[in-house]
This record gives sequence, C-alpha cells and structure tokens, in this order.
Amino acid sequence: MSTGTSLSGPGNQVYADPKVTPGENAFQVDNTSDAYYNSPYYLRHKNQVQPIPPRRTGALPYINLADYLPGEMVTAITKAGKISFHAVGDTGAAKVSKTQTAGTAIAKEAAVANAMVADVRSSGVGGPAFFFHLGDVVYNFGEAQYYYDQFYEPFREYDRPIFAIPGNHDGMVFGPSSTAPQVPTLAAFLSNFCAAAPEPSPDAMSIARTVMTQPAVYFTLDAPFVSIIGLYSNVLDTGGGIISSQQGHFPLVDDQLTFLTEELQRLKAKRQAGERAIIIAVHHPPLSVDAKTGGSGGLMKDIDSCCKKAGVWPDALLSGHAHLYQRFTRTLNGRQVPYVVAGSGGYAATPPQQAAPPAGTVIGDHKLEVDPIIEFGYLTLTTDAKSLTMSFKTAPRGGTGTELDSVTVNLVQGRIVVSGAGIQSSGGTKPTTPPKKGSHPPTKTTRKR
Ligand SMILES: [Fe+2]
Repeated sequence: MSTGTSLSGPGNQVYADPKVTPGENAFQVDNTSDAYYNSPYYLRHKNQVQPIPPRRTGALPYINLADYLPGEMVTAITKAGKISFHAVGDTGAAKVSKTQTAGTAIAKEAAVANAMVADVRSSGVGGPAFFFHLGDVVYNFGEAQYYYDQFYEPFREYDRPIFAIPGNHDGMVFGPSSTAPQVPTLAAFLSNFCAAAPEPSPDAMSIARTVMTQPAVYFTLDAPFVSIIGLYSNVLDTGGGIISSQQGHFPLVDDQLTFLTEELQRLKAKRQAGERAIIIAVHHPPLSVDAKTGGSGGLMKDIDSCCKKAGVWPDALLSGHAHLYQRFTRTLNGRQVPYVVAGSGGYAATPPQQAAPPAGTVIGDHKLEVDPIIEFGYLTLTTDAKSLTMSFKTAPRGGTGTELDSVTVNLVQGRIVVSGAGIQSSGGTKPTTPPKKGSHPPTKTTRKR
C-alpha cells in the first residue's frame, strides 16, 4: 500500500513526496496581489458574494475517510477506538512587506507545516490521520500559480490526506474589466481539492501529492468516530461569513441550509447512539473578538436554524479567518460546546486592534474561555465519540512548540471536563459579566491583507 516510506491511499493517492528536498526560501511565482486588489473587477464586486460551484455530478454530499487511507490504517484506528486529526486555517505564506521578506513569510508557514509533519512522524498510525484545512489555503487571491509555493511545497512531507473548505482568499477573484473575473471563482480550489479522480495536480510542479476528490466546496467527511461538516462561507473579507441569501440579502442561488440540515439529520442517529461526534467547520467565525473578522451573526443564525430543524447540535465548531487563536464555550440546550477560531496557520499571527475582552467574559450564551493567543500554531483533535479533546500547540519559527490551550468535552454529558492546558475545570461556565442578549464581543480590530 505504500510507496517507499510514504502512504498510498486505496485510490492510489499519494501524500508525502518520496523525494527529500530542502525547503524553499524564495517564491517560485511572486504574488501580484496589489494589482488584483486594484483591478476593476475586484473594486466593483468586493462587497458581493460569488457564485458557489455545484457539487460534482453524481457525487454524494459526503465522503468516507476509508477511501483515502490504507485499509490497515483505518482498521488500526477502529481497533484503537479513537481518532486524531489536525485542523487550522490561513496557512498560505504570501505576506511580504517592507518589514517581512519572502523568506521570512515562507519560514513562518513552514514552521507550522513542519510541526504537523513531526507529529505525524513521531506518532505513526495512532497519530493524526488527516489534516482538515479551515480555509484560506492560498493568498491573496487563490489562483493556481500560487498553489505550489503556498500549499504543495510547505506540506510536501505531510504524509496524510489534506481536506479543505475554501476561505475568502481561495474564492476571491479579480479582472481587468468590471464585468467578469479573469478566472471563475474557486477554479483552482476545484481542480486541487474537488477533482473527479486523485491524479497529479497541474499546480504541484514536481511534488507527488495527488489532488483531492471532495464532492464540492462544502461537504462532509465521515471518519471513524467523527464527522466533520464543512461549509463554504464565501468571499467577503470584512462582511462576515455567508452560507445563505439571508432572506434575500445576498443573491445566493445555491445556499447551504438544506445541505447542512440534511447532513445533521443523516448523522443524528449515530450521534445520539454515542457512535460519532459531529463537528462543523466554516472559515468565517460565528464568534470572534478579532475583527474585521468579528463574529458573523447571520452565519450563526443560519447554522443554529439548521441544527434546530434537524434536532441535533454540533459537539464543536471550528473556524479560521481571524489570524489568532480564540476559544469560546457556547451553552446550547444545557450542553457546553466549544467554538474555536484557529487562523494562525502560517499567513499571519495578528493581535486584535482593540483590546479584546478578558478571558471569562460572558456575553449572551457564550463565554470567552482564554485570552486570545497571538502565535502561529495549529489544533490537534482526538475523539472516541464519547469525549472530544482539542489542543492548540504553537509552532514558532526556529523554536519548539508548546501546548497553550486544551479543552476536553464529555460528549455524553455535554460538559467541559478539562479547560486550559492541563487545568481541571469545575465543569461550569460562570458569567463574569452580566449577559447581554444578542450582543457580541467587540469586533473591531485589524487589517486583512
Ligand atoms: Fe479569511
């Protein structure tokens, strides 16, 4: 099943590149985003949603991890009774400025990718089984020519499947006229993550990793003990995540409310039987104290409405977009549900522009559990369907990573039993400020590019 020391999936997928090569220190293709941001198409359409490519003809809305990993590995995971995986967003290295060279930008992304590679290598079959990318794989505009520098090269040694939902930068488009983009939105994402067959990527140059075969830009990954429902929250940078027309406010023909409701209904019986956890992943955070990228109230409302309709709620919600780590607890029907923002995966680690509320602040049904962490890093999640642990570990350039936060949820009781790196929680979330219904933490902060 394997090629040399690298895994090969049942469809002859290739993950880690068998060649050992040094990391790059300069981009193969220089990013020209300034021209994109000033293009007539972008300037005219930057506050509008983009169309959502339909699901591949004949494809189901969900995929099974067993179709991506060697059978003996899936058997070993099932026998062990638990699964681990990585998640983080906003990995693409593209941020070059007067104060940051291309080499530094590349090294920051490489530090995160290399730490994830080290996890896989050191833990073997019992370690992370895959990486679920939370969007913004490629900056600043997710075009094909940047996939090598920002995705294939940094993750060339990551010997596991990488699934992804797109972020706003993956879907952003530009063009020399105001009426049509140069290339359709998500064209490169589709060819690299939603291909019909796991063939070599036209954008990977000599790197062996094959493209992924997700059915659409929004889909569910069924793995042993956990299903991850991935949503696509469109291209707005400061306007928040959008998965529906929001009562006709956005001209989205293909909204994701039916998909989300039906997927929750499909998974409900196994969730209620304690056989699998349900995680929702969406690039824009419904809750955030960072900005531009503040919480998306409309997105939260849409997700909640689907959960209510299906009669089942997620065990955790993961987002990126804000370039830092944040963890909230939402109390839903008496259950404690972590809402985590993990968007410091390599592009930037950016503090809020305005002071964030202190850890412990409770607003409405949610509580900010830790002070936001402004460091590059990534999540490792582990679940046996009875409990779920999520850990945030830093990946500093030239340094050693540290676990700075961790949460464990008892999924049977819907209670957080460990909160903070190794700190036992009383299991409660006592308000430290009076709840204000319907309000959110401050949402003003920084910049985007
Ligand atoms: Fe983003």
